[in-house]
Amino acid sequence: MPRFGAVLSGTGSFLPERRLTNGDLEKLVDTNNEWIIQRTGIHERRLAGPSESTATLALEAARRALDAARLPAEQIDLIIVATLTPEMPTPSTACMLHHLLGIQRPIGAFDMGAACSGFLYALATATQFIGSGSYRHVLVVGAETLSRVVDYTDRGTCILFGDGAGAAVVSACDNPQRGVRAFELGAKGDGGTLLSIPAGGSRVPASAVSVENRLHYLKMNGREVYKFAVHQMTMSLQRAMEACSLTSQSVRLVVPHQVNLRIINSATEKMGFPRDKVFINIDRYGNTSAASVPIALDEAIRQGRCGPGDWIIMVAFGAGLTWASATLHL
Ligand code: COA
Repeated sequence: MPRFGAVLSGTGSFLPERRLTNGDLEKLVDTNNEWIIQRTGIHERRLAGPSESTATLALEAARRALDAARLPAEQIDLIIVATLTPEMPTPSTACMLHHLLGIQRPIGAFDMGAACSGFLYALATATQFIGSGSYRHVLVVGAETLSRVVDYTDRGTCILFGDGAGAAVVSACDNPQRGVRAFELGAKGDGGTLLSIPAGGSRVPASAVSVENRLHYLKMNGREVYKFAVHQMTMSLQRAMEACSLTSQSVRLVVPHQVNLRIINSATEKMGFPRDKVFINIDRYGNTSAASVPIALDEAIRQGRCGPGDWIIMVAFGAGLTWASATLHL
């Protein structure tokens, strides 16, 4: 039994200004607005500008979360940044964020690599440090500039992804019955090739050949990922409900990874959730991977879709393959 509850004391999000509409994509690849909306629910996405990168998006989201928590950055005890598009292989984006936030204390800072499940993996990690009494405030961020790894000649992937960042300050609460009450982390490593960036690591280092073969871009088997996603999202949601003996009536809001509207609708309908209990913003931002859940969480809280005393479930899956859920009593 944890000694302390891990509660959300503040959330924030940041989306770059530049919009990429379905109409814009029609000019780049053989696709059309109706097809994209019908198959994915996406109308537009945001793209980072030339002076923006994963750390700068993370910084804005983190500042907003700290403001909401009314907490000076100096009081943060640990920084975790979930991302699959870090600033560079090393140092970590979390260390850069430590610097950009102007934090003088030598607190721990590290990146979390679990693709679209990354924010929930990071939240579960923060919950352990807080529950044990090791730390009082952990800054958990999900931030991506997927536009830097998306191939805008591949219509199977470029229609889906966008850039953005979301953050939460996770704080200790004397009542262990509040905050994160259950989580699930999962992985199926043999599905790794279904969604990957093949080059740029130790297996296929950058070379003229890797660039020529476009191996630094995200590759995806859309149909297989789709099947896996519907199944896994449904199962994760079911287990998240069972973990705290919840029903679709007692849960106020499901905050899913904004992966594809059809996948979200299929999984939540199977578990008996009406549409008004499922938070959706994929129409405006597309799939922002590790940033997707914290952006949705922040918007849900700011719009009053959930608040103190409510049960919410966050659920995600992604490359790895990975999946994760978190059940919170706000
Ligand atoms: N625009 C227009 N037509 C397209 C298209 C596009 N962007 N992409 C594919 N098509 C065509 C295909 O060529 C195919 O045509 P055909 O029937 O003549 O062969 C048809 O549309 C259906 O293709 P399919 O690949 O079966 O489409 P789909 O319904 O599976 O939708 C995805 C494609 C990518 C939207 C869908 O598979 C998906 O969302 N998968 C999950 C991906 C995901 O979530 N990844 C991130 C995980 S975190």
